[in-house]
Amino acid sequence: MRHLIIGIEELVHLDDGTNGAIVGENMKNRENLISKGNGILIEDNIITKIAPEEDLIEEFLPNFKKFDFDNNYIVKVIRNDNIKITHTGGNSVIPGLVDSHTHLIWSGDRSNELSMRMKGMSYKEISNSGGGIKYTVDQTRNSTAEFLFSQGKSRMKEALRNGTTAMEAKSGYGLSVESELLLTSVMNDLSIEKGLPSIDITWMGAHDFPEKKDKNDYIDEIINEQLPEIIEQGFARSCDVFCEPGWFSIEDTESIIDAAKVFGLSTRLHIDEFTDGSGAELAAEKSVETADHALFTSLEGRELLRKSNVNQGFLPTAPFTMGLDRWPPIEYCIENEMPWTIASDFNPNCRVLSLPSVASICVQRIGIDPLSVLCATTRNAANTVIHNTEIKHGMIKEGYLANMNVVNGDKWEGWCLQLGTSPFCATIIEGETVKHI
Ligand code: NIG
Ligand code: FE
Repeated sequence: MRHLIIGIEELVHLDDGTNGAIVGENMKNRENLISKGNGILIEDNIITKIAPEEDLIEEFLPNFKKFDFDNNYIVKVIRNDNIKITHTGGNSVIPGLVDSHTHLIWSGDRSNELSMRMKGMSYKEISNSGGGIKYTVDQTRNSTAEFLFSQGKSRMKEALRNGTTAMEAKSGYGLSVESELLLTSVMNDLSIEKGLPSIDITWMGAHDFPEKKDKNDYIDEIINEQLPEIIEQGFARSCDVFCEPGWFSIEDTESIIDAAKVFGLSTRLHIDEFTDGSGAELAAEKSVETADHALFTSLEGRELLRKSNVNQGFLPTAPFTMGLDRWPPIEYCIENEMPWTIASDFNPNCRVLSLPSVASICVQRIGIDPLSVLCATTRNAANTVIHNTEIKHGMIKEGYLANMNVVNGDKWEGWCLQLGTSPFCATIIEGETVKHI
C-alpha cells in the first residue's frame, strides 16, 4: 500500500549523505539536516521517495485538490482504494525517537526511597538497607509473566505516545537463571506486538548480586548457567554489566563480557555512574557498542572511548531523579567529535518514558542545541539499537523504515521544549499513522 505524507512545514530528516553516527559540528548543521517543501512516499513500511510535495502530488494524486489550511484540523488521514494520505496540517516532522537504554520490565514501587535520599542516604546505602535493585528483584520475581507483559505493554504505549518507535530493553531484575529467562521471554513477546515500538533485547544478569549468594558464586552462575541458557533461548542480542565500584569490578566485568562475546553477544556497559571507576578504559579496550551513564568519566577516559569509536550513552534523567547536580560534558564531546546518544534509563528509580522530556533537560538545563540532541536521540541511538525488522532506522531517508513524528507545531524545535505531555500530534510507525490528539 502506498502512503503519502504531505503538508509538512519543516522536515528534519537528518540525512547529510553519511551513514551511522553523526558527530561534532555536523550535528548542528541545519542546512544539511532540515528541508522545506518536501513530501514523503511510503510503500508498506519503507520510505521510498522524498521529493517536492507538488511533484509527488502530480505523480500519485493527479485529482488532488489542495486543502485549505484553515487551522481546523491537526493531522488528517485520508484513505482511498490504492493510496493513503496523511496530511500533517502544516506541522513539522522529525524521525521516530530511539530509546537506547531502558530497564523496561519490573514490578513494585520504590517511591519511599525519596525520603531516604532526602535524609542523605546514598544509592549504595539505600541498596544495603534492602532497597534499590534488590527490592525490585523481590517484587519482580513474585509477579506473573502475564502481569509483567501487561505492564510492559502500557509502558511501551506511553513511550510511543511520546514519539519512541524503537527501544533497547534490559533484563536484570531476575538475577537467577529462571527469572532472567522469563524477563527476556516477556520482552520477546512484547517485541512481536504490532503497532508498538520495536525492542532490541539485552540480557543484564550482572545488574546486581542476589541476596544470600556469594559474589563469586553468582559470577560463576552468570557465566556458566545464565549465559548458555540465554544463548539457547535466542532472544537477547546483547549483554550489559553494571560496572561500578561496589557492584561488578573491572575484573568481574571483563570476565562476563569476554564470555558473552565468545557466544556472539554484542556488549554494552553501565560505567562511571557514581564515581570514576575506570569503566571507560575497559569499555574502550573491549570496544563495546555503547558505554552508558559515563557521568564521572575522566577526559582521558572519554578520549580512549573516542579512539575506539565507542558511543557515550548519556542518561541525564538518572542524576536528575537522584537529585544530583551534575551533567555529562556534552558540549565537550561535540567539540571533540565523540559519538554520543541520549536515552531515558527508564527504571524504578527513574520513571521517565518520554525522550522529549529527557531532551528538554539537555536543551533547557545543559544548554545543548536541540538539533544535536535530536541527532543523538534518533540516528546515533539507532546506531546502537537494531530494529526488529532489521531495516535501517533513525533518519528520514529513502530505503529507511518509515518511522517519524509529527510535532504539534510548525517549528521543529517544539519537540524538546514541552514537559509532562507529548509534543507530538501523531507518530508514523512502520508506515502506519497513529494520531495522539
Ligand atoms: O542504570 N545503575 C544500574 N541500573 C539502573 C538503576 C536501576 C535501579 O535503581 O533499579 C541505572 O541507573
Ligand atoms: Fe541503566
